[in-house]
Amino acid sequence: MARIGVLTGGGDCPGLNAVIRGVVRKGVNVHGHEIVGFRYGWAGVLADEAVELTVESTRGILPRGGTILGTSRTNPYKEDDGPKRILETLERRGIDVLIPIGGEDTLGVARRLMDEGVNIVGVPKTIDNDLAATDFTFGFQTAVQIATEAVDRLHTTAESHNRVIVVEVMGRHAGWIAAYAGLAGGADVILVPERPFDIEQVCEHVRRRHARGRTFSIIVVSEGAVPAGGEVWTQHAGTDAFGHQRLGGVAVQLEKEIEQRTGFECRMTILGHVQRGGSPLAFDRVLGTRFGVHAIDAATEGRFGTMVALKGTHIELVPLEAALQEPKLLDPAFFETAEVFFG
Ligand code: F6P
Repeated sequence: MARIGVLTGGGDCPGLNAVIRGVVRKGVNVHGHEIVGFRYGWAGVLADEAVELTVESTRGILPRGGTILGTSRTNPYKEDDGPKRILETLERRGIDVLIPIGGEDTLGVARRLMDEGVNIVGVPKTIDNDLAATDFTFGFQTAVQIATEAVDRLHTTAESHNRVIVVEVMGRHAGWIAAYAGLAGGADVILVPERPFDIEQVCEHVRRRHARGRTFSIIVVSEGAVPAGGEVWTQHAGTDAFGHQRLGGVAVQLEKEIEQRTGFECRMTILGHVQRGGSPLAFDRVLGTRFGVHAIDAATEGRFGTMVALKGTHIELVPLEAALQEPKLLDPAFFETAEVFFG
């Protein structure tokens, strides 16, 4: 029997509750552990705000979006005595192993805490699907499905009004959501951060398509898409506690530019946090559950300093460092397939 801490950090993501449920169900019923859930990511460890998680208290959460523990982008290394306070909380609560569920920031903190002697088994999480060392993260498929449904709906209104509609999706500096939703929704142009765009070329695609008799176009753009040789077009200033620039709003400028340059009426839609909300798809519930069960097994076996990862169809353990390498950017071959349908 051990005392296991769990926390969810960074942006929320459909499937987080499936992981928590997996950890608790196997941890309690099979391994006989006690599970402590810290509230609001690292903020809850700093403030020693936690709840005991039981099979009873985690019943019925599998289809629920968000995270029952709450989350935050708090960086303990930016707080006064942050690491010291974390260690004190873990000591006070008798935590033997910590299972942080998060992206590069949350897991980056976990990696540093390993050097302070904390036993860690990480679980990768992000709708952006940009974490190295795992083929997919849970939440991504749900975000793609939501974005695809939006693209389908925007098709009918674009067609009725003979408009160009620019749909902005999340993804930070990786174009996975844009490329998958764009391909699945039959977008006429997809703009991703990995391929800086030339606004004239984008307009040319639209003009060519309309010259062939089409009366509307759908452009899917990733929030982190950049004009060639330029800076990202964001509507926000400032950075978060991990130094990340807040993105969002590239579609605002694209709408103006495309309308001015082509003369076609243009509208933009920013999907934003709707992509992260609501119930996870079956794929993400299954992946989250498998991650949770494997993470608690790894914690029980003392395989610390690792992270669960999807490799093909198998769940494997990889060194935590592996997840913290360069982000996993969009596969160029995937983009080339999507490109076949442009214009
Ligand atoms: O990393 C997930 C993500 O949803 C990004 O796609 C997006 O840029 C960011 O989080 C938004 O963060 P916040 O919820 O802090 O606005």
